[in-house]
Amino acid sequence: MEICLEDVSYKSGKVFICQNIAWKLSQGEHWVLFGENGSGKTTLLSLVAGYHSIKKGTIFLDGEAYSEELLPKIKKNIALVSSSFFNNYYHNETLLEIVLSGGESGLGLGDKIIPQKVVRAKHLLAALGLKNRYSHPFCYLSKGQQQCVLIARALLNKPKLLLLDEIYSGLDAVMKKYVADSLKDICTEENVGTIMVTHEVENITDEYTHILLLKKGKVFARGLLKETMTSAVLSNYFQCSVDVTWQDGHFGMDIKINKQSLAEFYKKEI
Ligand SMILES: Nc1ncnc2c1ncn2[C@@H]1O[C@H](COP(=O)(O)OP(=O)(O)OP(=O)(O)O)[C@@H](O)[C@H]1O
Ligand SMILES: [Mg+2]
Repeated sequence: MEICLEDVSYKSGKVFICQNIAWKLSQGEHWVLFGENGSGKTTLLSLVAGYHSIKKGTIFLDGEAYSEELLPKIKKNIALVSSSFFNNYYHNETLLEIVLSGGESGLGLGDKIIPQKVVRAKHLLAALGLKNRYSHPFCYLSKGQQQCVLIARALLNKPKLLLLDEIYSGLDAVMKKYVADSLKDICTEENVGTIMVTHEVENITDEYTHILLLKKGKVFARGLLKETMTSAVLSNYFQCSVDVTWQDGHFGMDIKINKQSLAEFYKKEI
């Protein structure tokens, strides 16, 4: 499966959130989508997942342009896990309803409930520590438990591409290791590709092959992870001194910021 973004822009009101994005992802690749708060990462993932219509440019799935008609194929193959996206939509829905909606084109539960999907949804919820809570409303769960419901939702259809938006935030240490190892197994066994957004750089491990660096909605850098995530590129990106390290297969970043540049940064932002 191949996803190709050609000159994609998206705006809300008059403001462009993503601008002129060109990006090609091939089957089984593992990408990190990295960038400062508000740079457009969640928005870009939700565009790739088919949750918004694009204002300019085109996204292709195996050469077919995204459209209403293509939505079932998009939703079958690409799954988004993003609490910052879904928490705007899910409140009183039960865990089972939310996981089952992962098999639908929209955000809600469709007309027909397929018994095999119910079995799989319950199995996934149980595997993620939510056994016997199938009828609980989503809003009554803790942040980490909500994250697990969204992971189960994404896995319902056995997608070919998983879009993971800060999925480890809120998970306790054991659950984080369990989820990371389970996803690694699924991705290896079924040749599933991933795009991971994270601010916690230790989550960037050797399995990730590529990176797209976003700044203010535009591509700042893109390429092979170890060639692109360098001290020079990140110092330029953050406009301060950044030291990049790789230790035991994990990425590390040491940021040195002096008080004067911090004051200048805040003046600029205000
Ligand atoms: N529906 C919306 N309407 C208007 N503006 C929006 C909407 N969604 C996002 N934005 C704005 O678009 C910009 C990018 O938001 P987005 O959530 O994609 O950033 P992000 O890179 O995921 O940030 P973070 O790292 O904080 O999660 C932000 O300035 C945000 O305020
Ligand atoms: Mg985000």
